[in-house]
Amino acid sequence: MSAPASFRNDAALTAALDRNLALDVARVTEAAAIAAARHMGRGDERAADLAATAAMREALTAVPMAGVIAVGPSADPEDGLFRLGEAVGDGNGPAIDVGVTPLEGGTICAMGAPNATACMALAPKGGLLSVPPIYMEKIAVGPGVPPGTVSLEADADENARALAAQRGVPVSSLLVCVLDRPRNEAVVERLRAVGARITLISDGDVSGVIAVGLPETGVDMYLGSGGAAEGVLAAAGLRCLGGFMQGRLMARTDSEKLALRAAGHEPGRLLEMDDLVPGEAMFAATGVTDGALLRGVRLHADSARSCTLVMRSRTRSIRLIDTRHDLRHDARYDARHEHRHETTPDAL
Ligand code: FBP
Repeated sequence: MSAPASFRNDAALTAALDRNLALDVARVTEAAAIAAARHMGRGDERAADLAATAAMREALTAVPMAGVIAVGPSADPEDGLFRLGEAVGDGNGPAIDVGVTPLEGGTICAMGAPNATACMALAPKGGLLSVPPIYMEKIAVGPGVPPGTVSLEADADENARALAAQRGVPVSSLLVCVLDRPRNEAVVERLRAVGARITLISDGDVSGVIAVGLPETGVDMYLGSGGAAEGVLAAAGLRCLGGFMQGRLMARTDSEKLALRAAGHEPGRLLEMDDLVPGEAMFAATGVTDGALLRGVRLHADSARSCTLVMRSRTRSIRLIDTRHDLRHDARYDARHEHRHETTPDAL
């Protein structure tokens, strides 16, 4: 599959992802993460999702772009989450496709477990593959692995052997990240059969994929299936890191096959990085709960501290932003403290 007809990979469009947007997108994922973190461990995934979405939606209004939600919308347009084609941004900048998971790992946030994040990807219009709400098989490795070394056409054990051989290390030294789902059991068995080490994650495969591009995580390869939208978001992040990724949309039922074809996809087709994210991209993620990539939000009475990763593919810049937020100046601040807003001097 080639890049969508609507996508032109030219300099004017890629310049749209201006370096100045980096801080703007960090503010957006920070707002979503802080809102979600208020619901950490409270057992209400929907409340956490809605809070993160509302905060992200509001923060996006300040971003100078004519953005459109292209990846990650809810299947139900009435449920308060982002809708496909929803306009975001202040409407005054470049035409940008926006991919969102305001709370990546709603269940884990609701349980207070590790690895929940708030994520967003930006690309010039047409620069994020549009996918229906189905699963995607994924394989990803970090930069420096020659194309063709690993592939979704090969089995997990063959991929582990090939990656180990390319690196000149024993398979037993590899660490492979897999989303812990029954549908990924065959992948796990094949990896165990060749002695690879595995980190099973309960949710949050955007961070799982991106981890392969950041050596400090120790993850060498990502394998297995997860959400298709999360696959496109992860591809945007991995493109910024120079990594390799392939995806394959999984149509498991006739209705999913129909949905795939209706969206212009051919079932079973291998999607390369240039299909998933055909040009330049920007990616941001803020930790909600602690994870391998990012520390979670620390919430205090009047303040919060967040940790955000912002990356741009054009320059391969990787920013880790540690922010202290004075919540007394935040309009979204908990209503219990509204009286403090009223008495806070402007000069503060
Ligand atoms: P939520 O944010 O909806 O909880 O999704 C998290 C996630 O684990 C993704 O990271 C992953 O791609 C997807 O769910 C997998 O879907 P499923 O839980 O249906 O296997």
